[in-house]
Amino acid sequence: MTVDSALSIRKGEERQAPALQVRDLVVRYGGRRDSFHAVDGVSVEVARGATLGIIGESGSGKSTLAKAIAGLVPIAAGTVEVLGPDGGLAPAASSVGRAGQVQMIFQDPALALNLGRPVWKSVVEPLVPHRLAVPRRLRDRGVELLGQVGLGPEIADRRPGQMSGGQRQRVTIARAVAARAPVVMCDEPVAALDISVQAGVLRLLDELREASDLTYLFISHDMASIARIAHDVGVMYLGRLVEIGPVREVLRSPRHPYTQALIRAVPRVGLGARDAEIQTLEGEIPDARRPPSGCRFRTRCPFAQEICALEEPPAESVAESADSGSAHQAACHFWREIRAGTAPRRPD
Ligand SMILES: Nc1ncnc2c1ncn2[C@@H]1O[C@H](COP(=O)(O)OP(=O)(O)O)[C@@H](O)[C@H]1O
Ligand code: SF4
Ligand SMILES: [Mg+2]
Repeated sequence: MTVDSALSIRKGEERQAPALQVRDLVVRYGGRRDSFHAVDGVSVEVARGATLGIIGESGSGKSTLAKAIAGLVPIAAGTVEVLGPDGGLAPAASSVGRAGQVQMIFQDPALALNLGRPVWKSVVEPLVPHRLAVPRRLRDRGVELLGQVGLGPEIADRRPGQMSGGQRQRVTIARAVAARAPVVMCDEPVAALDISVQAGVLRLLDELREASDLTYLFISHDMASIARIAHDVGVMYLGRLVEIGPVREVLRSPRHPYTQALIRAVPRVGLGARDAEIQTLEGEIPDARRPPSGCRFRTRCPFAQEICALEEPPAESVAESADSGSAHQAACHFWREIRAGTAPRRPD
């Protein structure tokens, strides 16, 4: 499937009320002397039944964002609200209770599963503390859940070591849906899989979302996967969101130089960032412990000017048209000039 045909599927799907709302989220790592913000003031909202893709280089804080939403790392500031039983948003429960509201699928299924147990037991794990199934029926329920992810009953008693990577990831997906949590964090769920099975697992995730109105935060460093599965996409750089908007619009008309460079770096997704002068990404992402002042991207940005070191650019609406669905925003002092082709280059 091409990126264009993947995007066309998204067209016309109706948006529902939010199932996940994150406001000004800050996550701090380290001790008193060496602490830093791995996520630094991120706000996102995902409609029920929708997928928000999150993209960015390694070290940009994507996994930390997902773990904080899932209650697996503490939040230093901000709020996380999740769809509650009454259909409205409510503050996420304590980390223990949150498993019924937010589930998580990790990159490496082998690490997420108990290697010594038959997989049906891993699948029904979330049902036990919530008493969602009668104990003697648990195995049947496990087999049923495995069936939902395309695995036959002969798989149920196997250990993870007796399965392929793709099958193992299907097991962790079955476990994530077992808890009936409305919101699922998918942290690079196909990145560790053989390329030949990636598309099948992506399709499965999308089918489950549609069947059960699940809401996904889908993390990837692969623009093609994001284009295939996400409705909206957020671009992270050093703990901050630098651009967010409908995936079609962001891929076609990226406004932030970082997004433009990311898209340029993947030729098969090259949906024609208009400015011919935009270059691919150079240099390494700086150490998150010592982020640059002002705009964090300025050390790699070809358009950086003096003000970029002094003032952090605010997120602004950059939408092509008012009726383009959810807001398209970017945080760059010079996005208009860059778009118009009049932005001066950084002095050397
Ligand atoms: N448990 C941890 N303790 C301290 N620093 C961490 C921890 N986990 C991640 N980090 C650091 O936080 C930053 C963001 O990491 P992460 O969220 O894993 O980014 P990504 O998923 O985008 O690669 C990185 O600088 C990483 O080294
Ligand atoms: S604010 Fe300045 S440094 Fe940051 S992306 Fe925009 S032009 Fe580049
Ligand atoms: Mg990660």
